[in-house]
Formats: sequence, C-alpha cells, structure tokens
Amino acid sequence: MALPERMTSWDVAVVGEIYADHVFTGFARWPGPGEEVLADGYVRELGGGCVNTACGLSRLGRRVRLVGLIGDADVDWFEGRLGEFGVGMGGIRLGAESTGITVSVSTREDRSFFTWPGANRGLADLLGEPVVLADLASARHVHFAMPLPRQRAAEILPRLREAGCTSSLDVGYSPDWLTDPRNLDTCREVDLFLPNRTEAAVLCGEDGPDAYARWAWAEGLPRAVLKLGAEGALVIDADGVTRVVAPRVDALDTTGAGDAFDAGLIDALLDDAPFGRCVERACVCGALCTTAPGALRALPDSLQLRTLREQTYGS
Ligand SMILES: Nc1ncnc2c1ncn2[C@@H]1O[C@H](COP(=O)(O)OP(=O)(O)OP(=O)(O)O)[C@@H](O)[C@H]1O
Ligand SMILES: [Mg+2]
Repeated sequence: MALPERMTSWDVAVVGEIYADHVFTGFARWPGPGEEVLADGYVRELGGGCVNTACGLSRLGRRVRLVGLIGDADVDWFEGRLGEFGVGMGGIRLGAESTGITVSVSTREDRSFFTWPGANRGLADLLGEPVVLADLASARHVHFAMPLPRQRAAEILPRLREAGCTSSLDVGYSPDWLTDPRNLDTCREVDLFLPNRTEAAVLCGEDGPDAYARWAWAEGLPRAVLKLGAEGALVIDADGVTRVVAPRVDALDTTGAGDAFDAGLIDALLDDAPFGRCVERACVCGALCTTAPGALRALPDSLQLRTLREQTYGS
C-alpha cells in the first residue's frame, strides 16, 4: 500500500558527503616527525556539509531527507545524534567502507585537517540509482553538498527540474572540481551555486567579490551568491551587485557557518521570500552558527533567526 503523500515527500533533500569528525584542540605546538603531543580537548561529532545543512533546515522546521553513505559501525550513533535534530535515517545507506573520517587538529595559531573519504567513495554510484533519484525528486528542493560529478549532474538536474524541484550546490573546497571547465554547465544548471570567497577565487582564477561578479556575468549565471565570512554576502543578479552585511555576533568558531548559511537561504526560498530577504536570512543563520563551538550546536530555530534578522535588517 502506498504511503499517503504527506509521508513520502520532503521539503528538502540534502545529499552529500558524510563524515565522523574527530576534533582535537589546544595542542601547544605541532609535533616534529616521530614526536607525540597531547591535546587539551577532544570532541567527536557528525560532520560533512550535508549533515550540517540538513540539521539546520530541520531546526528551522523543514521536513528533511538526508541522503548519503556511512559505515555499519556508526548507525546507532548517527541515528541518535541526527534524531536530536529531527532528521531521520531513511535516506542513509550503508556504504562498502567505514564512515568517512575527518581529524581536525588545532594549535592556538592554526588548524589542519586529515580526511579519509571512506563510504563517501560510493556516492556517485548511489546517485545513479533510480530509486535514489526518485527519492530526491519527491522533495521541493534538492541541495547537493558535494563536488557533484558532471556526468551525474547532467543526468539528475534535468530530471529534478522536470519534477518541479529547485536545486542548490555547495561543492566546498574542491580544487579539482572548481578548476574543471566541464563543471561550468553545472554551475549554470543549478538554481543556486553557493561558493565561499576562497572557492570562488579558485573557480574564476582571481580573488575578490568584483572578480567573481564579473565572472558570474561572463559565464551566464542567472543569479549568483558569494559567502564572505564576517563581511556577509554578495548577491549578483539582473539588478546588479548587492552587498548584504553580516549581523554582529560574538563569533567563537566559524566551522559550518557556510552550511548554516545554505540552510537559511533554502528555508527562505521555500517561503518564496524576495531574494534579498533570502540572503539576509542566510546571513543570520550563518552568523548564529558561529556563536558556539562546532557546526551543529548553535544552529538556530525560527524564532532566534527572526529575532536577529529584525534586529539587523529591520522587519
Ligand atoms: N564572524 C562572522 N560574523 C557574522 N557572520 C558570519 C561570520 N562568519 C561567517 N558568517 C556568516 O556565515 C556565512 C558563511 O560563512 P563563510 O563565508 O565563512 O562560509 P564557508 O567558508 O563556506 O564556511 P564553512 O565551509 O566553514 O561552513 C557568511 O556569508 C556570513 O553570513
Ligand atoms: Mg563552505
């Protein structure tokens, strides 16, 4: 028996790389070869942009389908932690390898990352499965938090459009993807391409908001958004270039701010808000995310979001 419509469709499907983050902090110095140094703090947390954006959207009251791969040893942990955000496990599949891992190591001055992709190596194949595509197409919006391979993008994006879904893409810092000219078509085909300043500079070969705006016009992106950290964001569309200032917050840790920004933007798009308002909501969501350590702990609910948005931009 088919489930009722309400049970089978989602506001947003979020698909991408999923990680177990191991965050070591407070090393006095970086070790030399063969040396051991002791961390002052350690936290294990779910990671990956898709997890952060999915949890952010769910906190804002959206029905979210998280699609990705993990290893079987981590199912209970993911189920429990995602459950705290109201995100279910129905779109998560067991991969051929263990869950991807990122080890983050920070001294007072610097932070470095070591990553094992693990189960995420099966993601391109997962996206080729008709049942997964049907799952994505049952959402109103699909967000890709991954360097979406060109071949998969060419298959999937037209299908989503036919099904009436809007789409967004945050590839993260993926230099190979960003410098491959075949991916320009993907940037044009998604409704929203969402780089930060560093990623935009790799993409267009020149740093700075003006350079990105010129590139976006030249390449025919109908509408572009650029994340600019504490400086807020830039909107480039038919009306020209508009800067949206960031709300003032006591930023403690900017990890995941870009993923929270994506969540705020998608949430506002689903409300059919005017585009400038959507980017304001995105900036508020990104800013609030920075007010606690880690990407997940300070994701706002709708009331927190509205309060800071009104304080910053007026009602
Ligand atoms: N210090 C800050 N103060 C206020 N807002 C901030 C701050 N840092 C980030 N933001 C908000 O979050 C958004 C995204 O931040 P950023 O440009 O750092 O993205 P990102 O580099 O993709 O982040 P990440 O990949 O770590 O999630 C910014 O556009 C801004 O709106
Ligand atoms: Mg980012």
